[in-house]
Amino acid sequence: MPKLLKTQVAIIGAGPSGLLLGQLLAKHGIENIVVERQSKEYVLSRIRAGVLEQGTVGLLDEAGVGERLHREGLIHHGFDIAFHDHHLHLHLEQLTQGKYVTVYGQTEVTKDLSDARQASHLDTFYEASHVQVSELLTKKPLVQFEQDHQAYQIEADYIAGCDGYHGVCRASIPRESIEEFERVYPFGWLGILSDTPPVQEELLYGNHPNGFYLCSMRSHTRSRYYLQCSVDEDIANWPDERFWDQLQSRLPSSISANLVRGPSIEKSIAPLRSFVAEPLRYGQMFLAGDAGHIVPPTGAKGLNLAASDIYYLSNALIDFYRQSNPKGLESYSRTALQRIWKAERFSWWLTNMLHQFPEKSGFDQRIAQAEFDYLCQSELAQKALAENYVGLPY
Ligand code: APR
Ligand code: PHB
Repeated sequence: MPKLLKTQVAIIGAGPSGLLLGQLLAKHGIENIVVERQSKEYVLSRIRAGVLEQGTVGLLDEAGVGERLHREGLIHHGFDIAFHDHHLHLHLEQLTQGKYVTVYGQTEVTKDLSDARQASHLDTFYEASHVQVSELLTKKPLVQFEQDHQAYQIEADYIAGCDGYHGVCRASIPRESIEEFERVYPFGWLGILSDTPPVQEELLYGNHPNGFYLCSMRSHTRSRYYLQCSVDEDIANWPDERFWDQLQSRLPSSISANLVRGPSIEKSIAPLRSFVAEPLRYGQMFLAGDAGHIVPPTGAKGLNLAASDIYYLSNALIDFYRQSNPKGLESYSRTALQRIWKAERFSWWLTNMLHQFPEKSGFDQRIAQAEFDYLCQSELAQKALAENYVGLPY
């Protein structure tokens, strides 16, 4: 017999979307249960981008988990773009009237959220198997799962599908009720983490004839670097020395001498994809974060978009429960998608300018060069880039 549980909002997925939603709802006295397929250790070992918009930081503050982020996060007032040997500095603060970004790993964000959830003793089921959602078009949607050989059934008012791109929530929506838009890029990112000082203080995104590279960091002593690689690349072909040699050869000559090499403590390959599902609602279930959309990591928008979805969704649920006002829930999908598509456009554009596409003709390459030249010469173009990079308003 399944154990029966009741809650107001059943949240599927304990990634940043699900945990942030859970914290914000709990702050407003809205009951929620989180169901996660993986173990907590697994969730907290995933390494992902680490650039937070001010809006994301504000939301984490509101959720009560901003303390360590303000202590350990690095405030960046700008970043660099290199195109072959030409180099452009984007002074975010000047270009956006005072805005900046905070460099703080997504793994740390997830850990802070998960610690806060544990401290408030909110119900969370890790290592849940056979997770299913059903009765979505009724007033009492159900979540079923098993944990430790015990079956559970949650009856909720609403389900929040925060279970990422490969989750069960979007997959449970009938094909005719959802439309998907997708672009898959013909390359991946090979990333390494190493306990070496970053090659420079701010981020550097670069396009080199051998491919894109990114120099990022987690702290003053821990670097995160990426190289464009082919989609079917075998990581075994990339011993550390090859990675460092290739990165060094792609860096502008003025910077490459500063590169400090060291053993990698993590190495992985990520595919690049743009993806949006519409609408982000099916009956009593809402999709948020990677469950509803994916961006290529070039603009570091993945986590920030998840945060803006959760901003709209949490406020909609709070208005519903506190004031019986369903308007936010009714407009959630439309409102969130407007911001999502703008971030999709930005991430697609930056990806196009900064990568080598195997099928690109001479024409395409000249266009990418012209795009960069225009950016160097036009303050307006730089402002548009900076405005998107620091995050469009909610
Ligand atoms: N049942 C329960 N949980 C599931 C299921 C399932 N069937 N399928 C997946 N999950 C869990 C995953 O194990 C994962 O922990 O849902 C969680 C989804 O987390 P993320 O993939 O991190 O997605 P999200 O929380 O939306 O965060 C978006 O993650 O991929 C990055 O760039 C992206 O930074 C962005 C952020
Ligand atoms: C990262 O630090 O992992 C990172 C930073 C910026 C990006 C992508 C990834 O655009």
